[in-house]
Amino acid sequence: MQVPGEKQPVGVPPRVSGLGAIFSAARFMADPIGTTQRLYDRFGPVAELNFPLGSDTGGALSFVFGIGPKYNERVLGDPATFRTSGIMMQGPKGSAQRRIRDGIVGMNGPKHVHYRKMLLPPLRRPIVDAMVSRMAEVALRNVEGWPRGQIVDLWPLVKRMAQDITISMLFVAEGDGDHAEAHHAADMINEHMRLNGLASVKACPVDIPGLPFHGMMRSAERLEAYLGPWALKRRGDTRRDDLLSIIVNSPDEEGKPATDSAIAGQILTLFGAAYETCETALLWALFLLAQHPEAATKLLDEIDGLPDDGTMLAPELNSATWLDAVVRESMRLMPPVPMQMRVATRDTELGDYSIANKTRVVLSPYLTNRMPGLYPEANKFKPERWNGLDPNQYEYVVFSGGPRFCPGAWFGTTMVKVALVHIMRQLRVEVVKGARIDRQATITLAPKGTVPVVLRGQDRQFAPSSVTGDIHELVALEA
Ligand code: HEM
Repeated sequence: MQVPGEKQPVGVPPRVSGLGAIFSAARFMADPIGTTQRLYDRFGPVAELNFPLGSDTGGALSFVFGIGPKYNERVLGDPATFRTSGIMMQGPKGSAQRRIRDGIVGMNGPKHVHYRKMLLPPLRRPIVDAMVSRMAEVALRNVEGWPRGQIVDLWPLVKRMAQDITISMLFVAEGDGDHAEAHHAADMINEHMRLNGLASVKACPVDIPGLPFHGMMRSAERLEAYLGPWALKRRGDTRRDDLLSIIVNSPDEEGKPATDSAIAGQILTLFGAAYETCETALLWALFLLAQHPEAATKLLDEIDGLPDDGTMLAPELNSATWLDAVVRESMRLMPPVPMQMRVATRDTELGDYSIANKTRVVLSPYLTNRMPGLYPEANKFKPERWNGLDPNQYEYVVFSGGPRFCPGAWFGTTMVKVALVHIMRQLRVEVVKGARIDRQATITLAPKGTVPVVLRGQDRQFAPSSVTGDIHELVALEA
């Protein structure tokens, strides 16, 4: 039912139904970015995929795509009407997958408010600013171990660095007995999130041995069995103020001790939210700098003016304006979270269109961030555009918007900046000529496969390399 006083919509969105919708949904599972782009090109900012008998109650199942700041604000700004349904697959009732998927990103209402409030303190700006020199130590140690002068895959190196920094700063300090176990947990979480994003798992959610979904369900059981007991070693240790200790030692929204499964779910979501985003942000920034010599040279000039390794503090880091522009521009083109989904809790409107209760609404940070009206020459990497540019949350949707704005935004940005400074100071990243770079958009926007590079001592000989692959759909590269 429509809420009285709400704007009166004029009609239903342009719609694809029947076989066309099935075909588009299959394509969307395999390639959400390309499919959303095609729907946008064909129908404009709002389009619907409609499956007449697709819902679990036998009614219509509808996916509506709303592209651009107006729809981002409408949906993200009103979490009571558009609730989140989480980012992981639901899993059958009673399954480990169902129990552990319910971290903060799957919560709504007072439960969400309770957990969000709990997680904010260690992510506040002054606390994060105080981490800069410790982040630098971890970054530097990683860079020193990176092999030079030979072809290597940059992706696992960057992943390990991002994981190392986020785990050490937010969850388990280095030197703590269970630091290695935290990395083991992170590796299991990576694998589980990868399985959750696979089109083959989503397309056939049937738990029969041999099917990909079966593998994902077993992975959930292993995670639940590992994460809960591991984290519970922290129970009662209230001296610590890291995110892991907070999760384990804080009561749930009813004041009761959190269950093992609830703790496992929180850890799974938070670990993933923290480093899976940072690692893709860092990877794409390094790739774009390697392919844009002028921007890289200017960045190195700026870095040369910063205090030496280990002595740089937050004020110096935060005063580096070109570094800031590079990071913003890189995340604009390659938003680590390229799409967001919400579910309507009642009949309502989306701009000029009426949408029914339970409609799934898909938003696209990826497309919003490259709207030419907001960002001229939107497909080009141009950090200079940030001189004086100040888009709002709904125009630059890297960290979401509204009451669920990412609480780790300052940490993520700081971590990427610190890592860039220390990598650039020591190394020049040279992409291997002819390398194929493709995208994989599941929960995050990551490279599909390897990113072959040669790491050279920093000699300022920046030069782009010609590459192939669908990276050319994401960014206009000169080579
Ligand atoms: C560059 C790095 C990061 C990016 C681009 C990013 C992006 C996002 C986005 C887009 C969302 C909204 C997802 C949705 O509602 O569908 C989100 C939520 C969230 N992020 Fe981040 N994030 C980053 C780093 C971090 C870090 C380091 C943490 C630390 C734990 C973190 C914790 C969270 C949490 C807890 C939420 C859920 C907030 C809520 O539902 O109220 N993020 N992030």
